Amino acid sequence: MKNKIIVSASLLSADFANLGRDCERAAAGGCDWLHFDIMDGLFVPSISFGGPVLQCVGEIASIPIDVHMMVTEPARYIERYCELGASLITVHTEACKDTAAAIDMIHGLGKRAGIAIKPATPVSEIVPYLGKADMVLVMTVEPGFGGQPFMSETLGKITEVRRLADERGIDLDIQVDGGINGETASLVKQAGANVLVSGSYLFGSADFSAAVDSLR
Ligand code: DX5
Ligand code: ZN
Repeated sequence: MKNKIIVSASLLSADFANLGRDCERAAAGGCDWLHFDIMDGLFVPSISFGGPVLQCVGEIASIPIDVHMMVTEPARYIERYCELGASLITVHTEACKDTAAAIDMIHGLGKRAGIAIKPATPVSEIVPYLGKADMVLVMTVEPGFGGQPFMSETLGKITEVRRLADERGIDLDIQVDGGINGETASLVKQAGANVLVSGSYLFGSADFSAAVDSLR
């Protein structure tokens, strides 16, 4: 647990009719980042939101926007999403034709780059990008929907990524996403994660600040 704990609120669980209010609720509640889940209906079964909504959030957000692209061949959209206000863009290595080129494109636009893996994808798939990516996202549910239960079998992958980064002397951010709440937060932090995404738990809590505190 050497890195600072960062809490990123997943807007997938926000009230879309009151999105600005919920962005403010997350910032006022002490969240560090807003997590923006883009789904294309191909890489994952559902479709969420894209550029036009990101533009609106980018105009009002008071904290950094962490874009999670669940999109086939994400390189097609990286430039646009950087212009619209993303501070960090995470792409799934399973969805990229050329993962290294996607990271270079994000860095070339002056933003931070993350690489994500689904629960069934082994850690070996991201090893070539350690030292190049700023963050690795270990999905702790199957991507596509909020509100799913945490998959404890992913804990070993978090430990493995942290060990590989430490062995190489890399100060890597390790993000987890899916089923994160007051209980599962302790498990993922113990395993080595330091960036915690949470949607249904945070937005479903009566006391947003207390829920954020319970994740730290
Ligand atoms: C799932 C998304 C998540 C989702 C998490 O594919 O990537 O960011 O919103 O939701 P909870 O925290 O409810 O599991
Ligand atoms: Zn996400």
